Amino acid sequence: MKFGHFDDQSREYVITRPDTPLPWINYLGCQAYFGIISNTAGGYSFYRDARLRRLTRYRYNNVPMDFGGRYIYLRDDQSGQFWSPSWQPTRNDIEDYSCRHGMGYTTIGSSFGGIEAHTRYFVPLDETLEIWQLTITNRRTTRAQISSFASIEFCLWDAQDDATNFQRNFNTGQVEVENGVIYHKTEYRERRNHFAYFACSQPGAGFDTQREAFLGAYRGWDSPAAVEAGQLTNSIAHGWSPIGAHQVTLDLAPGETRQIVFVLGYHENPVDQKFDPPGSQTINKTSVKPIIAKYLDPAQADAAFGRLREYWNSLLGILQVDTPDIHTNRMVNIWNAYQCMATFNMSRSASLYESGIGRGLGFRDSNQDLLGFVHMVPARARERILDLASTQLPTGGAYHQYQPLTKRGNNDIGGGFNDDPHWLIIGVSTYLKETGDWSILDELVPYDNQPGSEATLYDHLQRSFHYTLERLGPHGLPLIGRADWNDCLNLNCFSDTPGQSFQTTTNKEGKVAESVFIAGLFVHSGQELAAIASHRGLHTEAAACLTEVKKMNQVVLEHGWDGEWYLRAYDDLGAKVGSNDNEEGKIFIESNGYCVLAGIGLDDGKAGKALAAVHDRLATRHGIVVQQPAFSTYYLNLGEISSYPPGYKENAGIFCHVNPWVMIGETRLGHGDQAHDYYSRINPSAREEISDLHRCEPYVYAQMIAGRDAPTFGEAKNSWLTGTAAWNYYAIVQWILGIRTTLDGLQIAPVIPKSWPGFAATRVFRGVTYNISIERRGEGNHISLLVDGTPIDGNIVPLPTGARKEVTVKGILS
Ligand code: GLC
Ligand code: GLC
Repeated sequence: MKFGHFDDQSREYVITRPDTPLPWINYLGCQAYFGIISNTAGGYSFYRDARLRRLTRYRYNNVPMDFGGRYIYLRDDQSGQFWSPSWQPTRNDIEDYSCRHGMGYTTIGSSFGGIEAHTRYFVPLDETLEIWQLTITNRRTTRAQISSFASIEFCLWDAQDDATNFQRNFNTGQVEVENGVIYHKTEYRERRNHFAYFACSQPGAGFDTQREAFLGAYRGWDSPAAVEAGQLTNSIAHGWSPIGAHQVTLDLAPGETRQIVFVLGYHENPVDQKFDPPGSQTINKTSVKPIIAKYLDPAQADAAFGRLREYWNSLLGILQVDTPDIHTNRMVNIWNAYQCMATFNMSRSASLYESGIGRGLGFRDSNQDLLGFVHMVPARARERILDLASTQLPTGGAYHQYQPLTKRGNNDIGGGFNDDPHWLIIGVSTYLKETGDWSILDELVPYDNQPGSEATLYDHLQRSFHYTLERLGPHGLPLIGRADWNDCLNLNCFSDTPGQSFQTTTNKEGKVAESVFIAGLFVHSGQELAAIASHRGLHTEAAACLTEVKKMNQVVLEHGWDGEWYLRAYDDLGAKVGSNDNEEGKIFIESNGYCVLAGIGLDDGKAGKALAAVHDRLATRHGIVVQQPAFSTYYLNLGEISSYPPGYKENAGIFCHVNPWVMIGETRLGHGDQAHDYYSRINPSAREEISDLHRCEPYVYAQMIAGRDAPTFGEAKNSWLTGTAAWNYYAIVQWILGIRTTLDGLQIAPVIPKSWPGFAATRVFRGVTYNISIERRGEGNHISLLVDGTPIDGNIVPLPTGARKEVTVKGILS
């Protein structure tokens, strides 16, 4: 069952009934000012950091689930009846409901009693504000007297404090209202130099800024007393809960359409120019007024929307594909790339499942996110890499997370996740392959943000690599530390007390437990680092690196092989994890996927055996599960993984992030059918028809789909913010379609299904447009390339010399 449909032409998903199984959200903003918006106008906004600069309030874990939003109410002033065109919060029986989630904007609307209304929400490029364009049309045969109310609830900035510290917060709320604009200035009197504002393009019939005046005592957002009465009361908030509400009354002739523009924004003043006049307590509005005036003008709002559309056209234009599979096309051309922008911006901070008050940016997460983002805005990827590297520790290890606003490592969680440093190598290598910008390696970057500790980025990469060599265990495999990619496989923790962190309550020395996954990652990152070194002419270093890679490769084959597949780890007692000898958790996806991705065992048949075992034991029709058999009880020596009921999350859930490692592994074995089949099992568009089972948005990946041990097998959770976005994009584009960036140029090496006659693609790479067409003439994966009609040796297209900016590449597969 579906709840809407894709409109690929407009690059929108159109939701046609408001009661989706879960709120289906979209993101507004792509640089500094952001918002989450659900299909019924729920969500919140923030500036840069969802915890520390929250503009509007949201109620987590509420019933109904999604509460707090950008709510508009319409009231028929003749009958007194009122409703919300976005269905929530009033939930009237509206008609013709639709929500169009597009690239950086959402339009929600419906009809009720002959009044049609829809609101387009978006954040203009390069601004710290959002625009709501409300369009109302009278479809009646008679005149209509309509009051419209637009409302938001301010958050007192620090979202964590806002949700807990009421003894203080009920006293601090302050606003100003000037020329009909509502300014929220809580804490502006003391240590803040920023404020929020909410403005309306039409002369108002009233406003409210105190929540209780608007809602009335004992009422909620579904039935505000002031809306019911048809008149706002011009309340001024002193303490309690500041809100912004505007009323506009309209007298509409039959067929008449009117537009009202609302602007909600964030603004900063220089610390010494906060007040006007100086010495007063009144906000200095000199620099904000022109911005507000500009975007309240509907023509300016439309122009800003046009620029947003062009921006996305150009971002998505960097790679467009035309394959025989509509789900592949739709995800690659539109939604997967779009989701990669969201994960790049948000990391794992703000979604319906991430409250925005928890973790900041993850070191491993943000590095991996680059795989799907780097081609869109390389300059931002560069900046991100340098920020990440600045939180690296002098040991080569890394803070597991850092706060985006301060860019400092997070002391609560610290470091010691022994896979972390290698993702920096992968991130940098991804950037170099895309851009050829070798200057990044010479950037001076501090360790742990300590002035004086600066070293080149290249030095950081070397330390990342050596971090592992200095931390090898009894078998010569990397020590796991607090956890590797799987945060929940905690081999040094032994936690038996409620509330203890599984990751940071480390009570073992950590000198025994080893990770085969990190070994695979090391072999991969080591090859990348060696390639970087030899490109720089550092041949001795490259050779030294490859020697270590070979050694580790050998150690994996000797001590990381279980007979039919790769082991997962050795625990603190030196016992095998992920072995046929185990009762539960006999085989894991991570080590098998990643070792094959890294090329381990390709020559001696082990890689093929490992992925065959994955196919037989882990693959389900909804995707590949993390391990089998699921852990039926809590294992003190394994940690959080066994805390989840079977089939959920890391305990045998389908963790979509790691499925692409197996897809890539299958392409390395030449299995295009199997790779694309796995790709399709978790492709959200291909799952649209089962939306009632899948439940999450059909246009973006979710972190997890319940595995076959779960009663809800096939149900997705944690949509949007997941490494799944980048890795699936990378797997389909670079390994299945085989349009792969390398240090030397664009490689074309498709491993596609046998039934495909071919495909076409356009890729803008290092300023050159490659028009690619692939034709299948045989069943294999051997490719011959013609570049502008001339055959070339190998499969890497040389960068054109001179001023040529367009290249035609024809590939024959046989
Ligand atoms: C979450 C984390 C990621 C981790 C994964 C597996 O997605 O953000 O860092 O690798 O879970 O535990
Ligand atoms: C929990 C989650 C895991 C996530 C981790 C982040 O352990 O189960 O998926 O990676 O939190 O700290």
